[in-house]
Amino acid sequence: MKHLLLVVTASIAAYKAADLAHAFVKAGVDVHVIMTKNATNFIHPLTFETLTQHKCLIDTFDRNFDYSVEHISLAKQSDLVMVAPASADIVGKLANGIADDMATTTIMACTCPVLIAPAMNTNMYLNPIFQDNMKKLASYGYRELKPVSGLLACGDVGTGKFPPVDELFEEGMLYLSHDHDLAGRKVLVTAGPTEEALDPIRFLTNHSTGRMGYAIARSAARRGAEVTLITGKTNLKDPKGVELVHIVSAQDMADAVFKRSEEEDIMIFAAAVADYRPTTIAPEKIKKSDEDFSIPMERTIDILNTVGHNRPAKPQYIVGFAMESENLLDNASAKLDKKGADMIVANSIRDTGAGFGTDTNKVVLLTREGSTDLPLMSKDEVGDRILDQALIALS
Ligand code: CTP
Repeated sequence: MKHLLLVVTASIAAYKAADLAHAFVKAGVDVHVIMTKNATNFIHPLTFETLTQHKCLIDTFDRNFDYSVEHISLAKQSDLVMVAPASADIVGKLANGIADDMATTTIMACTCPVLIAPAMNTNMYLNPIFQDNMKKLASYGYRELKPVSGLLACGDVGTGKFPPVDELFEEGMLYLSHDHDLAGRKVLVTAGPTEEALDPIRFLTNHSTGRMGYAIARSAARRGAEVTLITGKTNLKDPKGVELVHIVSAQDMADAVFKRSEEEDIMIFAAAVADYRPTTIAPEKIKKSDEDFSIPMERTIDILNTVGHNRPAKPQYIVGFAMESENLLDNASAKLDKKGADMIVANSIRDTGAGFGTDTNKVVLLTREGSTDLPLMSKDEVGDRILDQALIALS
């Protein structure tokens, strides 16, 4: 079980920290909360105690409690500290080594990552003193989760607003959901459809929604990898902790992959790349005539095939996808050799809950060692299973 230390300081956004604590508890994280004394003016500690099932530590002296021991043991057990919302006061104290209360003494005793989510009036946030303090904290490795812009509680409009709770939760889960077994590894993932232009108005594409590739990228980031996600157009939310590269055509995707491929440890090709594109792109809109119309097409470059057969000296694990409508295993295993891949993730478009547009997938992982038939599971879990095998092969 992972342990989060949530430090709540005096900001009107403190009430939102209850939802944040609850989201982590629901995800199976053990949450301890420390509040500054002033924060208790905004939200009652009982709220956090009820949600987390732990005593909420506050900066008042309670004779029934051995704080000096408690705060050090909390610091030792924590896998992550989130200061959310963070006031200008606590940022100023931490940046200058002032440890005069439960929150600051405990944070200073922590060796785990510390995330700071400031929430305050725009002018306070933009004040150079505050900005200098944040820069100083960044130089010590503390990470800022930047506030967003909007209507603030004080009536001003500008930056300084506490980010949506689900975004803070996702940021936190990058540190808490998995062991960081992919730390130090570079993972490249392709996702989504490509678009091949026909004229300035029209293009050829496919039904890929990008869900599978995004799920893999998210899993890899949560496991500590340095992730690049090269993606065609999707409606999905940007995954946290991932370098996103947006592309349009198969050629754009190829260029983006080839630029990075030598350095990657694991490459997973989940994109639905067009196999053909119009031989020429008409410079002007193609007008209709009374005749039938056909489009001359040429092959696009096969990205997986190119990197699979041109490997760098260092070990690399390369995964392709195959979507088949018949002879799933035969067709997919032929791709293993043809494309020089280490694994082909095969799915049948005939299986319910598999393929484009769903949050689940039913796949077979095919390697030269054999095949693993996975039951229907979430795309996130499929991503983890692929990464598990890649990691075993590379270690
Ligand atoms: N792929 C690629 N570059 C292309 C085409 C495909 O990298 N130009 C990758 C896909 O991302 C996927 C795998 O190759 O990982 C799919 O292989 P492909 O032979 O295109 O599969 P199908 O389209 O299913 O092939 P076929 O039409 O021959 O069944």
